[in-house]
Amino acid sequence: MSRRKVVAGNWKMNLSLDEATELVKQVTANGKNSAVEKIFFPPFPYLKTVNDLVIDELEFSVGGQNCSAKASGAFTGEVAAKMLREVGCEYVLVGHSERRQYFNEDARQLRDKTDMAFNNGLKVVYCFGEQLEERKSNRHFEVVKQQLGDVLSGMEVSKTRNLLLAYEPVWAIGTGETASAEQAQEMHAFVRKTIAELFTKEIAAEMPVLYGGSCNAQNAKELFACADVDGGLIGGASLKANDFCKIINSF
Ligand code: PGA
Repeated sequence: MSRRKVVAGNWKMNLSLDEATELVKQVTANGKNSAVEKIFFPPFPYLKTVNDLVIDELEFSVGGQNCSAKASGAFTGEVAAKMLREVGCEYVLVGHSERRQYFNEDARQLRDKTDMAFNNGLKVVYCFGEQLEERKSNRHFEVVKQQLGDVLSGMEVSKTRNLLLAYEPVWAIGTGETASAEQAQEMHAFVRKTIAELFTKEIAAEMPVLYGGSCNAQNAKELFACADVDGGLIGGASLKANDFCKIINSF
């Protein structure tokens, strides 16, 4: 399978600048698995520092955890996609469940953010996933299909080259409860089928689909062994150099 393998660390609102610097130094020294592309998603104020640390590391890159849906202007507190590019970002996260839940980001905004990111040369990691009640009531496939369609339907085919997906069941994020390898594989296969319907089979076969939600040094190997799981978007375990390196080296 020629699909890219990716392990990304979403630090969320954690770490001091010193801790962040130390973490990046350790991960770049010990997480060198060349089969895997590695991405750090630090808080905004650390982006430039982290990018300076990985600038000579071919397989490491940096991304923003969010970007504004607007290009520029009087939007106090917002960060433009163009600014992320200027400090060396290659990626941005769009649609993380914490943004949807705590900042009320809706489909319209997520589409605008995605457009803004692409128009400024960023690659997008689009996150989606069902809530616990939705899985319990057997609506998880329907919900995921809706979330994919919300942002991807009508997207120009040429843009899909710069798109990565991250399935993150909300009930597994930060809870210590991981989707089983079977649950992950089942959903990832469904995601790939949905991408084939929205675009083409070839595009679906090429697009990396990451798993996120309490992925850690113990369970990464089993999850990454699934045919349609191409890596992970890691929260808690990306804050510890040893754990994150173990995850990277699980491939
Ligand atoms: P977690 O977070 O690994 O701490 O569950 C994953 C994420 O929110 O991206």
